[in-house]
Amino acid sequence: MSISHHLLPLFLLLLVFSTFTSPSSSSTDSFIFGGCSQLKYLPGTAYESNVNSVLTSLVNSAVFSNYNNFTVQGATQQDTVSGLFQCRGDLVSTDCSRCVTRAVSQLGTLCLDACGGALQLEGCFVKYDNASFLGMEDKTEVLKKCGPSIGLNSGSLNGRDAVLSSLGALYGPFRITSSGDVQGVAQCVGDLSASECQDCLSYAIQRLRMECSGGAWGEMYLAKCYARYSERGNHSPGGNDDSNRNDEEIEKTLAILIGLIAGVALIIVFISFFSKVCGKQKGGK
Ligand SMILES: *[C@@H]1O[C@H](CO)[C@@H](O)[C@H](O)[C@H]1NC(C)=O
Ligand SMILES: *[C@@H]1O[C@H](CO)[C@@H](O)[C@H](O)[C@H]1NC(C)=O
Repeated sequence: MSISHHLLPLFLLLLVFSTFTSPSSSSTDSFIFGGCSQLKYLPGTAYESNVNSVLTSLVNSAVFSNYNNFTVQGATQQDTVSGLFQCRGDLVSTDCSRCVTRAVSQLGTLCLDACGGALQLEGCFVKYDNASFLGMEDKTEVLKKCGPSIGLNSGSLNGRDAVLSSLGALYGPFRITSSGDVQGVAQCVGDLSASECQDCLSYAIQRLRMECSGGAWGEMYLAKCYARYSERGNHSPGGNDDSNRNDEEIEKTLAILIGLIAGVALIIVFISFFSKVCGKQKGGK
């Protein structure tokens, strides 16, 4: 009885500790979606080494660029594997490189022995396949998420409409804008031409407007571009300004502090427990 009474606060502390530490890796690493082709290759074949060499090239290349593509020619067209990565346009190279490294390692687990695969983290997108996709526009809907409905005549809705309009009117593969409390982000994969990117984003924004009408936030991921909006401080998009960075630092510090407190509590619990046991034994004899 007395043991469980002693251990309860410790358990709570550890629980708090773990909730702080598990998401402490920055928000650019958070998982958005992943998918693999049905077709599998045989382990130990040339295909496997081609996939590995494409993925390794992507990881190495992310140290110095925000987008790149690689193709490894196989003996046959079937064994020719292409891959690309695209980091969110506002990531500095260290964050881009870390994100791609993480995405590639997750792809290796998620799409084990799959001929093709794609994975989107908050900060980057990685894809490889032997079916040709490089330089091809693709507006297939991959993921749609809409927030809960907000009042139709609320200020947020005006902000949302303004943000979606300006996302469509801006130029380039990476777009970020805000109106009031609403922030919007759009990103194309770098293999699209300027006009393909514009076309892809227009479609994503139009879909977002229709599908998430009245939604407090919304995300529309197509195969080669995405657009999304949210209220600042709520849901994504985040991790791209200093306040988020500070939050991360605070979280880390807090996690370390709580870890220390938990450690000290653990020692105190053990000492008090053993001193009681020893005390009882002494008293009994
Ligand atoms: C990709 O590789 C798989 C396995 O070797 C093969 O079955 C498939 O036909 C290839 N696809 C293309 C487009 O070459
Ligand atoms: C792929 O990469 C090569 C070399 O970096 C580049 O010249 C080419 O334009 C890229 N292709 C696409 C479709 O992005």
